[in-house]
Formats: sequence, structure tokens, C-alpha cells
Amino acid sequence: MRNLIKIFYGKFPVVTDTRETGFVNAIIAAGITFQVTRACTKGEQIGCSCDKRKKKKQKKKGPPLPEGDWEWDGCGENIEFGIKKSKDFLDTRYKKRSDMKTLVKLHNYVAGRLAIKNHMRTECKCHGLSGSCTLKTCTRKMPPFREVGNRLKERFDGAAKVIAGNDGQSFMPEGETIKPPGKVDLVYSEESPLFCLPNSTLGSFGTQGRVCNDTSQGEEGCGILCCGRGFDTHYKEVQTSCNCTFIYCCEVKCKTCNINMRISTCL
Ligand SMILES: *[C@@H]1O[C@H](CO)[C@@H](O)[C@H](O)[C@H]1NC(C)=O
Ligand SMILES: *[C@@H]1O[C@H](CO)[C@@H](O)[C@H](O)[C@H]1NC(C)=O
Ligand SMILES: *[C@@H]1O[C@H](CO)[C@@H](O)[C@H](O)[C@H]1NC(C)=O
Repeated sequence: MRNLIKIFYGKFPVVTDTRETGFVNAIIAAGITFQVTRACTKGEQIGCSCDKRKKKKQKKKGPPLPEGDWEWDGCGENIEFGIKKSKDFLDTRYKKRSDMKTLVKLHNYVAGRLAIKNHMRTECKCHGLSGSCTLKTCTRKMPPFREVGNRLKERFDGAAKVIAGNDGQSFMPEGETIKPPGKVDLVYSEESPLFCLPNSTLGSFGTQGRVCNDTSQGEEGCGILCCGRGFDTHYKEVQTSCNCTFIYCCEVKCKTCNINMRISTCL
């Protein structure tokens, strides 16, 4: 993992504090938190245990149980442990630094972790013979990682540009009228370069050959992604699951269909 991150960072030698780097930092912090927490729940992580919530202790802190005689099942996902490990791994080396780049990086790490922590959910189940609900238990679970990624992508779109504060220990939004970014928001301090053409100094591969969406007006659309160079469309036969049926109980059977998919790539 450490090598992977080094290689990844190694691709951005010139500009290091853009919106894109902010997103990457947030997703790395979230990814470590998620994997460590999951491993902990599965019992694969030494030195941690489930989040043991007891029925009574719940009153003061944390989320409530649903109405009725529900109990915590005693093994919720231990997000605090995942967050701690992610901090040990990523934040520790910056402890004594308070330059702008470090502040921005640490802020985005926090935002990444909160994209999981603030969206923990309570999942409840009935146990008992043939649907009789003799034991009702609830457990705390992380959101699926895809959801975390989508949330961070939204924050990427709304990321705030910041400049150094007067005290040298903080940052503030670049425009005076802009609302200061909250803990869950992503921040950056350098404008992104154009990623259209290959530029090894920037670590940009350019967008030639990238798959784009020819009906979208957004960033993933051929118009923007191909930077006006145009695109090429071809059809490719791909196999997908189709005509799935549910067989009682509990299996899903699907057929394999060949569909002709339209694929556009940037010139
Ligand atoms: C690559 O990017 C750098 C930094 O923005 C710029 O100075 C340089 O001119 C670019 N090189 C090419 C070949 O576009
Ligand atoms: C392409 O963009 C359109 C319009 O935004 C969207 O409806 C469609 O699902 C996209 N196609 C793919 C393959 O993502
Ligand atoms: C899937 O279902 C549709 C309509 O029910 C049918 O026309 C098609 O032949 C089915 N495909 C396969 C591979 O069974």
C-alpha cells in the first residue's frame, strides 16, 4: 500500500495541490478507513474488536435503536478503529508541519473519513423459526464504498479554493464572500492544469483513447473529455447477465445475453 501511494503521488510532481489531488487524498484516507474497519469486523485485523454496543449504554451516545424490543447484536463495524489506523498511516508524518499544502492535505483526509463515518447506518434483522421474530437485533454498518466514492465526487465538484490565513496556521476561502469550507468539504489551493494533452512533467497521459459518453454534456461527455478533438464510435459485442429470475429460496438465475454496445473513444 505504501508503495502504491508513492507511485500514485509520484505522478504529480509539478502541481500537488489541485482539486484532483484533493480528491485522491480524500479517497485514499476513506479507502484505508474502510478496509481496516471491514477487516476488523471479519476478525482479520489483530488488535481490534467489534463495536460492542450494549442495550443500556446506548441511551447517552450514538444513534438510537428503532422502537420496539430491538437489541444491538454486539458486533457493529468499528469505524473508530479504522479511522485511527488511517490517521496513524497517513497523518503521522505531518504532525509537526503547518504549511499550506499540509493543512490542505490533512483537511481532505478528514473529509474522506467523514464521508464514511457520518453515513454509518443501522441495519436490523429478525431471527427465529420461519419468520417468527423472537430475537430482533440491529448492527452498525458502513455505507457501501461506491456510495462513499459518489459522495466524494460530489464534493470534488463543489471543492473550495483556499489561501493561507494570516496566522500561518490555517486557511481561508479565496473569495471573501465564499462560505468557509466545512469539515466534510474538499479544498485545494492550486488551479488544475489542462489534462487534455500528454505532459510527462505534469504526469498527464492526455485524453486520447479515453472512453467517453457521446450523449452527455458533462465532463465524461465526448465534447469536454476529448477537448474538442473529436471522437470515434464503434460497436462491440459484450456479454451481460439478463432475464434474471428469483428462485425460492434464495437464488437468482440469469441467462447470458450478447448485446451490441456502442463505445466512443477520444481521438
Ligand atoms: C507541461 O506542463 C508544464 C506545467 O504546466 C508546462 O510548463 C509545460 O509547457 C507543459 N509541456 C508541454 C509539452 O505541454
Ligand atoms: C451517457 O450520458 C447520458 C446522458 O447524461 C446518460 O443517460 C447515459 O446513461 C450515459 N451512458 C453511459 C454508458 O454512461
Ligand atoms: C429474455 O426475455 C425476453 C422477453 O421475455 C425474450 O424475448 C428473450 O429471448 C430472452 N432472452 C434469453 C437469452 O433467453
